[in-house]
Amino acid sequence: MARTTNNRIQAKADRELFRRTVRSMARNEKVQSTRKLTQHGNVSVFAHSVAVAHYSVKLARALKLECDKRSLIRGAMLHDFFLYDWHKMHNAGDGLHGFAHPTTASKNAVRHFRLNKRELDIIRKHMWPLTLTKMPKYRESWLVCAADKYCSLMETFHLNNYDDHTFLR
Ligand SMILES: [Fe+2]
Ligand SMILES: [Fe+2]
Repeated sequence: MARTTNNRIQAKADRELFRRTVRSMARNEKVQSTRKLTQHGNVSVFAHSVAVAHYSVKLARALKLECDKRSLIRGAMLHDFFLYDWHKMHNAGDGLHGFAHPTTASKNAVRHFRLNKRELDIIRKHMWPLTLTKMPKYRESWLVCAADKYCSLMETFHLNNYDDHTFLR
């Protein structure tokens, strides 16, 4: 009984932190511009990033992992902050999209946000194991790395049931 109550309290606290953090970041015009960029299928980069943040927090709670949830959410929100249409391969000159976009995203992210080491690690390492030498260092980075793969898979096969607004209602 006590455990169920604690879980509920934790879930409510997570939800409030999630909404506050995502809404505050969404005020940034470059974050807003990701609503117009397609990630997979019919999902925008914005919707994908919000979904990855949502599932990262959910996974942390399910695994009862102590972590810095604010950094987890911020890193997830910026993990694909590459700001170009990757379907047209117009990237920022850092190389092939799959390998290079974490570097491009981290460069863009530090231009717009003051990031801590966990948030930066999340962005730079989220494509592991594709980027073989860039293995996540913090548990927050592992969580985003896993949630990103889950969301990408769902989106690629049109199995996602979320859009730009779903997790912010
Ligand atoms: Fe990515
Ligand atoms: Fe992603």
